[in-house]
Amino acid sequence: MNARDIMEISPIVPVIALEDEKDALPLAKALQKGGVNIMEITLRTPAGLKAIEIVSKELPSMNVGAGTVCNEEDLIKAKKAGAKFVFSPGISQELINASKKEEITLIPGVATASEVMLAQNNNIFYCKLFPATLSGGVEILKAFAGPFPKMNFCPTGGVNLNNLNDFLILKNVLCVGGTWFVPKDEIIINNFEEITSLCKEAINSIKV
Ligand code: 3PG
Repeated sequence: MNARDIMEISPIVPVIALEDEKDALPLAKALQKGGVNIMEITLRTPAGLKAIEIVSKELPSMNVGAGTVCNEEDLIKAKKAGAKFVFSPGISQELINASKKEEITLIPGVATASEVMLAQNNNIFYCKLFPATLSGGVEILKAFAGPFPKMNFCPTGGVNLNNLNDFLILKNVLCVGGTWFVPKDEIIINNFEEITSLCKEAINSIKV
């Protein structure tokens, strides 16, 4: 799956940290019901890899990727678990080389002009902006549009219902990532109906 197709699946990309892999499937179904057919399941909890494996086996219609992939070892484990793509909070030559070797699409995180240059010098034109609001938010994305006209972003980190349109209106933004519509507390109490309605609320609030 190429990076553009991944970033066009849904305007909102859930960043998920699961404490219990048993929550992965009901969460995936709740997201689909809410109109979101992509999941970034992060490797920052021990349940992450198993959760990716469950969703990729049990619900192949869901586009499941791994998040918080920080090095080659993470990337290999994510691919073996069934991730269709990987997201990283940052960018490194090691990770880029690993994604080429393993033939799995990497969407790295960037926050500076030098990092954008590293991406595009490796033919990567789809990146996260992370952490989006702290690294300059809408203003840095507008600034990047000048020197980097081919670069496309998925701002993540600090995005919410109040500012998602400010990002999505930008030409170099294809989607936004975040946790606001997959709250940990609701997952823990298995309130998946709430997650479906938060997805719908977010999608219905998009004006662009
Ligand atoms: C993260 O990696 O935790 C994401 O950037 C999500 O950030 P958010 O909680 O601000 O949406």
